[in-house]
Amino acid sequence: MKFVAGSPRGETWVRFAFEGALDDFRQAARDNNFSGKEREVLVHYPGKPCRRMIVAGLGPKDRFTPEKLRRAAAAAAQRARALDLEEISVTLPPGDGAENAQAAVEGIALALYEYKRYKSRPNGPGKLRTVRVDGDPEAVRRGEVYARATTLARDLVNEPPSDCTPRRLAEAARGVARRGVRVKVFDENRIRRMGMGGLLGVAAGSEQPPRFVHLSWRAPGARRTVALVGKGITFDSGGLCLKPSDGMLHMKDDMSGAAAVIAVLSALPDLRPRVNVHGIFAATENMPGGGAYKTRDVLRAMNGKTMEIINTDAEGRLILADALSYASRLKPQAIVDIATLTGACVVALGPEITGIFSNDEKLRDRLLDCARRQGEKMWPLPLEEEYWEMIKSDVADMKNSGGRWGGAITAALFLKEFVDEGIPWAHLDIAGPCLVESDKPYRPAGGTGVMVRTLLRWLEEQ
Ligand code: BES
Ligand code: MN
Ligand code: ZN
Repeated sequence: MKFVAGSPRGETWVRFAFEGALDDFRQAARDNNFSGKEREVLVHYPGKPCRRMIVAGLGPKDRFTPEKLRRAAAAAAQRARALDLEEISVTLPPGDGAENAQAAVEGIALALYEYKRYKSRPNGPGKLRTVRVDGDPEAVRRGEVYARATTLARDLVNEPPSDCTPRRLAEAARGVARRGVRVKVFDENRIRRMGMGGLLGVAAGSEQPPRFVHLSWRAPGARRTVALVGKGITFDSGGLCLKPSDGMLHMKDDMSGAAAVIAVLSALPDLRPRVNVHGIFAATENMPGGGAYKTRDVLRAMNGKTMEIINTDAEGRLILADALSYASRLKPQAIVDIATLTGACVVALGPEITGIFSNDEKLRDRLLDCARRQGEKMWPLPLEEEYWEMIKSDVADMKNSGGRWGGAITAALFLKEFVDEGIPWAHLDIAGPCLVESDKPYRPAGGTGVMVRTLLRWLEEQ
């Protein structure tokens, strides 16, 4: 599917209507019980200026946001697909032209996403080939790039875990290296030599060798450098502290943070933000093989700190310990990690909301603002120092689990130990929204690619 900027032509036009504002198609609206509410879609045949018109409702005019347009555009696109159309022309509602054009393109592209790689007979051909948008060409292109990056993350998350191994994830990272993006892949030996005891410990119970990946985007003339760090557990069985079957069911999604990092870096040559970006992730399975790490083991992370294992299912923080140590050494002006870290965060915020922890108010507020404008839900949680007690260890510098209460917070406090003093840092816990079980307007069930668009906007606004 391709998006082009241009004024409407062809047989099918897509428009948007605020609730109650139905002036030139009042009769069709009445006939079809359409009033312009959110989620309503009307198809009618006015003859002029086009044969077919798809109208999607935006709800009340005074409560409009670009996110409403994203959703309405998604609904219109799904209707166009149901009608087997090959081409549509989209007219945007009045307002911020660039924001609206980008949002509409994202909504359409993301709504039509399907993961069909393992279907021998893919159903629904998805004929829609050309989407013409009457808006700023730059914004149309930006929407397309944001959507393409998001679907790359979705593809990686949706891939079955025995196919999406650490090596495969490293290959995916290699695959996005091009103009301005370089990639370094470290194998087991290099990981050992770098002293990444957390990653090695978690990998010990798996047949699949771990990988550590460092992507980088160098922007000409950039004055700032930031690092993105992802959790790349390609399957989380829990290790020896094995998960029950229903808790394991979705654990192929435990590399969603790494997928987001790859996806974000894939888009940078197109967006060319004026900031240097490191994209870093540690990848391994967490399995209960004969060599697996055990409770009461002590692992030493790359920055020298030691971690006592209380629960082998709290593996994400162990590999992130190394990845954050590595990122700190690069001395970036900010670090953002993105991880499917805790069930506790899902208990706190539910399946739709990303939790954000940060040692820097300005960084946190910027990320919250970018998320809001991208229609991605995010909510701040506290880095409560008083809870550090829960992860104190008698034998090591800290324990890898503080028990059930405040589990998302103690996990974040643990990560903080691996970020060098003075570096603004934010931790995004995406355990809830990384994968969803039912369809939403522009997000079919499965991997969501959550936070890719938020992070892209954040990088573009540096
Ligand atoms: N990958 C899980 C967290 C998770 C839970 C992601 C649900 C997506 C949905 C993580 O590795 C984990 O198992 N965390 C444990 C930590 C506990 C043992 C301290 C958890 O949250 O139960
Ligand atoms: Mn786990
Ligand atoms: Zn995990």
